[in-house]
Amino acid sequence: MEATSRKFIKMAKIVVTGAAGFIGSHLVETLLDRGEEVIGIDQFNDYYDPNIKRKNISASHDRPNFRLIEDDVQNIDWKTLLDGVEIVFHQAAQAGVRASWGGGFRAYTERNINTTQILLEAAKEKNLKRFVYASSSSVYGNATSFPTSETTLPKPVSPYGVTKLAAEHLCGLYHVNYGVPTVALRYFTVYGPRQRPDMAFHKFLKAALHDEAISVYGDGQQTRDFTFIEDAVAANLASAEAPDAVGEAFNIGGGSRVTLKQTIEIMEKIVGHPIRINYMETSKGDARHTSADVSKAKKLIGYAPKVSIEEGLRREWEWIKALYG
Ligand SMILES: NC(=O)c1ccc[n+]([C@@H]2O[C@H](COP(=O)([O-])OP(=O)(O)OC[C@H]3O[C@@H](n4cnc5c(N)ncnc54)[C@H](O)[C@@H]3O)[C@@H](O)[C@H]2O)c1
Repeated sequence: MEATSRKFIKMAKIVVTGAAGFIGSHLVETLLDRGEEVIGIDQFNDYYDPNIKRKNISASHDRPNFRLIEDDVQNIDWKTLLDGVEIVFHQAAQAGVRASWGGGFRAYTERNINTTQILLEAAKEKNLKRFVYASSSSVYGNATSFPTSETTLPKPVSPYGVTKLAAEHLCGLYHVNYGVPTVALRYFTVYGPRQRPDMAFHKFLKAALHDEAISVYGDGQQTRDFTFIEDAVAANLASAEAPDAVGEAFNIGGGSRVTLKQTIEIMEKIVGHPIRINYMETSKGDARHTSADVSKAKKLIGYAPKVSIEEGLRREWEWIKALYG
């Protein structure tokens, strides 16, 4: 099956939480381009500059099929709002591994676990076609086999990963007990235009633009499976449509595993000059390696990542230049 086909969604009423964030804003735009009616929810919190979020959503803001509700997911009257809604893409969360230690943890339990529980409680009374939950590769922690398949026992190494896994388990519970048609997408490091400013590629390319040194945690030999934003969006659309996706969790990766050092070398070619690196102590909560086995997603939802790391980084660079140049 072609991941971007539009078999089941036709003029559906769709809710996207976290609509002004990196992934949510792209998803909203793609859904509107397909002619869907979309309600976006975002509280524009200050985990990073809310003006960036306003920019993210600005292209969709005034489109006729779009309604933006600026509020906390926990404050919404979901029983009313979900009337007539067919699909929920639940992207809202407190992202970021490092900030999840210490006093910041409360934001993670509130925004990741409580929001999901509130949505699922409302969804159990409704007749949704699909509830797609944005999970994370961080549920695996330091996996012992690569590429890692969904049958691997999740064992997060960060408080963030613990909350993402807890919410994923809640989705499973509401599916089994109340028939909520949940799907969990375990994204592996998503990148591209609008990437969050706390994420490595964004920080590296911004530093390269200003000819500043970058900070690398650890020796740079850690590997990641990087997923381009368009591929992550395609996975959302496909998982909302594929009949066999309900009740499942899927790895969503970019199709190749590269070291952080290799990505910096690719960036140097793109930006046209060497990038100075300051090596820092490894950060607690960062998995050493991630690599997605996407064969289940390929089989059940037709997922096939299309954008290479070279092409994806080139596109993120163009966006960084426009944002800060
Ligand atoms: N970006 C990645 O590489 C990545 C990887 C794995 C998983 N994820 C998951 O994907 C989702 C989107 O991530 P992102 O990178 O786009 O993050 P993001 O921070 O850019 O977007 C999240 C948005 O949710 C909003 N939000 C948070 N809590 C809210 C609440 N209670 N009510 C209303 N709005 C709220 C924020 O204001 C923000 O705009 C998250 O669930 C994240 O955990 C992202």
